[in-house]
Amino acid sequence: MELVEALQRQATACEDLGSPMYAELLRLLVDDYEVGGVSVQVLEGYDGRSFGEAIGLRLLAAVHGLVLSGTAPELAAFYPSTGGAWDPVLGWEAFEQVLQARIGEVRSLLTQPPQTNEVGRSAALYGGLLQLVAAVPLPVRLFEIGASGGLNLRADHFRYLADGTSYGPADSPVVFESAWTGQVPSADLRIAERVGCDIAPVDPLTDNGALTLTSYVWPDMTDRLARLRGALRIAREVSADVRHEDAVSFLRGLELSEGHVTVVWHSIMWQYLRRPDRTAIETRLTELGAQATPTTPLAHLSLEPHRVLTHERGSDGYEYRITLQTWPTGKTRTLGTASPHGQDLVWGS
Ligand SMILES: C[S@@+](CC[C@H](N)C(=O)[O-])C[C@H]1O[C@@H](n2cnc3c(N)ncnc32)[C@H](O)[C@@H]1O
Repeated sequence: MELVEALQRQATACEDLGSPMYAELLRLLVDDYEVGGVSVQVLEGYDGRSFGEAIGLRLLAAVHGLVLSGTAPELAAFYPSTGGAWDPVLGWEAFEQVLQARIGEVRSLLTQPPQTNEVGRSAALYGGLLQLVAAVPLPVRLFEIGASGGLNLRADHFRYLADGTSYGPADSPVVFESAWTGQVPSADLRIAERVGCDIAPVDPLTDNGALTLTSYVWPDMTDRLARLRGALRIAREVSADVRHEDAVSFLRGLELSEGHVTVVWHSIMWQYLRRPDRTAIETRLTELGAQATPTTPLAHLSLEPHRVLTHERGSDGYEYRITLQTWPTGKTRTLGTASPHGQDLVWGS
C-alpha cells in the first residue's frame, strides 16, 4: 500500500477510536510528506508496506517515547500524556523540529513493530472468565499467548463497574467506570497460575519497558493512559511469568492439571500469526481438548477480529468478538463484542 494512503487510513482509524490529536498529526504528516518535508527522509524505504505494519503508528510511538523520556520538552508541552495540551499549529512545528533534530533515533525506532499492551481489553477477557468460572467453578490456570507485557494476566486485580454491579478490588488503581453492557455473574474467581508468552515480551517492571508500553498509547486518550499506569503499578505487586517464546511452542509445552480449569486466552494477536502457526495452535488445542475431563477442563477465550460485511461508518470491516470454547464438550460460544481497544463491550450480542 502507498504510504500516504496508509497514513490517511490510520488517521481515520485514530479519529474513530478517539484520538483526534493523532488523526490531526497523521494528516499533517501526509501534507509534509507530499510537499517533500522532513518526513520523506524519516520514512524513506517504508513506502509500499502493508497497512498492518502500522508505519504511521511506529513513527508516532517513536516520537512519543522521546517525549515521555523527558528529552523533547519543547514537544512535551503539546502532549496530554505529559501534562501538555495539543495545538495543531505550534504542536506540529515542535513535532517537525524533533524529526529534524533526531532523525537517526526516530528511524532506528521505526524498525520495531507496535507493541501495545492494551489494558482496556482485560474487561472482555475478565468478563469472559467470570462466565466460564460460573459454569466451571474450579481454580484457574491462566495462559496467555501474545501477552506483550503480561498486564492483562492481572485482570482480576482491576476494578470493573457495570450496570450497578462492581467486580474486582475496590482499591484497584485500574478502574473501568462503565465496563460493559449486559449481565456477567459474580463468580468466585481464583487464579492459581499466570503464565504468558510473546515473541517480543516487554518487562513492565523496568523503566524502559514501562516507557515502551506507554509510548504506544495515544497521548490524548487519557483513560487508556490512566489504566495502563495503574496496571504498571499492579504488575509490581502481582507477579506473572511472561516467557520469550512463540505461541506454538508455548502451547506444545502446556498440559492440563487435575482440579483446575486451564484457560488459554489471547487478544488482538491472531492476525500476527502465520497461517501454519494458527493451524498448529488449533491442532494443539483440539489435542488438549480431547484429554480434558470434568476435573481437568480446558477453555479457549479470546477477543479477536472477525471479518464482516458492513458499510457502517467507522467500521474497519471487522467485528471484535469475545469467543469461548470449552472442553470436554468442545462447545463454542460468542459471548459478546467490543471495540479493538476493548471499549463499547456488549455481552450477549
Ligand atoms: C497487538 S499486540 C497485543 C498484545 C496483548 N495481547 C494485548 O491485547 O494488549 C500483539 C502481540 O502478539 C505478539 N506476537 C505476535 N506473534 C506472536 C507469536 N507467534 N507468538 C507469540 N506472540 C506473538 C506480539 O509480539 C505482540 O506483543
